[in-house]
Amino acid sequence: MAEEKKRGLLNGLTHYGDPDFAAYLRRSFARSMGYSEEMLGRPVVGITWTASGFNNCHRGVPELVEAVKRGVLAGGGLPLDFPVISLGEVFLNPTSLLYRNLMAMDVEEMIRAQPMDAVVLVGGCDKTLPALVMGAVSAGKPAIVLATGPMSTGRYHGERLGACTDCRRFWAQYRAGGLDDKQIAEIEGNLATTQGTCAVMGTASTMAILCEALGLMLPGGAAVPAVHADRLRQAEASGLRAAQLVGSALTFDRIITEGSVENALRVLLAISGSTNAVVHLAAIFGRLGMALDMDQLNRLSDETPVLVDLKPTGAHYMEDLHAAGGAPAVLRALRDQLNLGVATITGQTLGEVLEASDPWVDPTVVRPLDNPISPQGGLVALTGSLAPKGAILKRAAATPALFEREGRAVVFTSLDDLSRRIDDPELDVTPDDFLVLQNAGPLASGMPEAGYLPIPAKLARAGVKDMVRISDARMSGTAFGTIVLHVSPEAALGGPLGLVRQGDRIRLSVAGRRLDLLVEEAELARRRASFLAGPGVGAERGWRRLWRDHVLQAEQGCDLDVLRGA
Ligand code: FES
Repeated sequence: MAEEKKRGLLNGLTHYGDPDFAAYLRRSFARSMGYSEEMLGRPVVGITWTASGFNNCHRGVPELVEAVKRGVLAGGGLPLDFPVISLGEVFLNPTSLLYRNLMAMDVEEMIRAQPMDAVVLVGGCDKTLPALVMGAVSAGKPAIVLATGPMSTGRYHGERLGACTDCRRFWAQYRAGGLDDKQIAEIEGNLATTQGTCAVMGTASTMAILCEALGLMLPGGAAVPAVHADRLRQAEASGLRAAQLVGSALTFDRIITEGSVENALRVLLAISGSTNAVVHLAAIFGRLGMALDMDQLNRLSDETPVLVDLKPTGAHYMEDLHAAGGAPAVLRALRDQLNLGVATITGQTLGEVLEASDPWVDPTVVRPLDNPISPQGGLVALTGSLAPKGAILKRAAATPALFEREGRAVVFTSLDDLSRRIDDPELDVTPDDFLVLQNAGPLASGMPEAGYLPIPAKLARAGVKDMVRISDARMSGTAFGTIVLHVSPEAALGGPLGLVRQGDRIRLSVAGRRLDLLVEEAELARRRASFLAGPGVGAERGWRRLWRDHVLQAEQGCDLDVLRGA
């Protein structure tokens, strides 16, 4: 009973020095919104409002929130939506990652500050699900994730298109002279034609599936297309479940355990998911005092096959995954490799959830364990003298012929330098060289998705499709190529990447999980002595100053040091 009194709108009163006055004032102001006394006496379920004119992927949020409210009301709760920062991937400068932690802080503080007993986290575009989960983990109240869902595909001259792998494919053709201005303009109008997140296994889809794998979302919720009626039913059911979670101890910190972390990593490898997920998982786990162990990732990668045939590495789109059985089909296929006793937000264990799921699967999209697309996982972590704290390569999206190579470094010292010189006909570059981009890490520039360095125009026109590319940047989950990312420590922090000079030799060994700079230590020491730290992404004030002073490197998820858990 005493517990009961702590719930609802009168929880967490505003401090006026007189709690009775604070309760009276809050009741009065809440009544001004037209709710009945019965409604105002209910437990409160908050719903994050992430619709924004700057976020096309969240265009369906208003309708989803209405459906969530139906579920909350059916569960006996009072649904109250509240705005939090919304991050539309392509509308943010310099890059959305710079604002993920700001959104996570907003989410955490607003969940904690406002009188809600549980919360439905509605989001989808790349950084929003990680930010929502990070904030909710730290806030510690019962929560459930609802994804906005993926876009449906479009058509161009009979060909099926989906953002954003096809965006890149056609842009590469355009750069190489294979498409004219009129054609690329027509394609531009057909790449993203519905609400929802990118239609392939990009970062948004990867994070939605990982939320489901971690048990933070209702079963089947990751892959339902944004425009499908099932998406609204998921929303309603999420609202109902959130109302049922009021007073429950089933908070995210109880669900995200070593067992579910291992499950999430396995699923990431089996879906050949986005490299960005490694950064986001590290940040989420860091909120709970856990690390993302790169050795564990490599171990799991060796024994976890790629089962899901989706672009950018495969043939299908997210709407096909939904039709093929969705994330539950992937989890069932991996069943023998998963920790089935872990908790989920449903109150059932993962094993019980899978037992209850529809057993149908389309094996052309979700392969069985004994007939995988590839016997090993999609990602590998690298270390070596060029990346002492690690780097990531999506081998499933790379060219195996480039895996065991030594090459000459062609160095770009910044994003500006890259855009100035990459298409210069005089650029001294051959297809066997390694393109190196410096100062695109978290501190230097907010770690933009610039690791997908374009093939120099003169090589692209000559038919070169892939080269080894190395940077401290990230890459879009929808991109592909032999691209080494997240090199840590970053160049701007004095990492060896910043000491690479034009013409140095670099050795990549995917089999050995190594990335080495083949320069004598004495020479590196000489270069280190004259190293000058850059100014960092920011300015001297506000959020960018906080970022500059507190941001951690990629292996710690680029979270702020002051936000990590014990
Ligand atoms: Fe929002 Fe791709 S731009 S998910």
